Amino acid sequence: MAILVTGGLGYVGSHAVKLLMDSGREVISYDNLLFGHKEASSGSTIVVGDLLDLDKLRDTFDRHPIDSVMHFAALADVGDSVTNPHQYYSVNVTGSLNLAKAMVEHNIKNLIFSSSAAVFGEPEVVPIPEGHPKNPTNPYGRSKLMFEEILAEFEVAYGIKSVSLRYFNASGADPSGLIGEDHTPEHHLIPIVLQVALAQREQVTIFGGDWDTPDGSCIRDYVHVTDLAQAHLRALESLENGGPSAVYNMGNGSGYSVKEVIRLSEEITGKPIKSVVGPRRAGDPARLVASSDRIKKELGWEPKYPELRTIIKTAWDWHSSHPNGYSVR
Ligand code: UFG
Repeated sequence: MAILVTGGLGYVGSHAVKLLMDSGREVISYDNLLFGHKEASSGSTIVVGDLLDLDKLRDTFDRHPIDSVMHFAALADVGDSVTNPHQYYSVNVTGSLNLAKAMVEHNIKNLIFSSSAAVFGEPEVVPIPEGHPKNPTNPYGRSKLMFEEILAEFEVAYGIKSVSLRYFNASGADPSGLIGEDHTPEHHLIPIVLQVALAQREQVTIFGGDWDTPDGSCIRDYVHVTDLAQAHLRALESLENGGPSAVYNMGNGSGYSVKEVIRLSEEITGKPIKSVVGPRRAGDPARLVASSDRIKKELGWEPKYPELRTIIKTAWDWHSSHPNGYSVR
């Protein structure tokens, strides 16, 4: 039997596909190639398709012996979601509904869903436990929360079981050096900082220097992408073994400020990284740090690369050996 991985050629999806392939699974990577790269397939079967194309989804389930789905495909830029909410609800909610509909039609019951720390909004307590109130501060976070809630209803109505994994800040690159992060345009902090180290950008703009944090810049919980991928495998195995639906926060429980990320990146790369403080970015909470105790306790997940230093080092190994990402220019 095969696993369908939507967004399987994107950043986090490709890391899960690699682990699935390494463990001998048959994998179908369903991706519209907007942010995905064929070079990131790890030998999985590629289906070029869009979540908004319900017939293509149906056709994919018809053609392949799929029994579980990992759902990564989404639009995931917080700032962009504030200016383009229609697109975010369309892809992340309507697209996900199409996928769930095709699953119901094909009697497929197991789904691992890429959710986000953005469902919480400004936290009342940190580290944030799963049960923390959900008040998303941007359409991206709301779109993820909506689909989490839809999944609970789909379990009651159609028997689809799901594990939603709420990523905090996915970062780093697989230590194999074969796959890594390659977004165009790039919005994420660590790759942008490393592009400055590679002299591909002149400087990084720190989005706000007046946040209520010790150094005035935003605090985030960076979690290694290979550790996230590993959590997907654990979650899949749990559902396959009859485990219940669940929601888990995925982070390391340590927060680092934007300025700390820049300083540590200078140390790791040995290059000066010029930064300037600019205005705050719309939709950003000041501080997001996860409590991931629940997935550790219930699924035995343990991050292999919890140190920010290792996360930045693996990202640097990838970016410095692939300065143009997957494309050879
Ligand atoms: N930042 C800058 N300058 C930049 C880019 C980012 O200062 O050029 C800051 C952001 O304001 C934020 C931090 O660096 O404080 C990290 O920003 P990213 O864009 O790398 O990541 P986000 O925290 O905005 O978002 C990420 C994921 C989302 C997820 C969120 C939850 O991309 O999908 O983490 O924490 F919802």
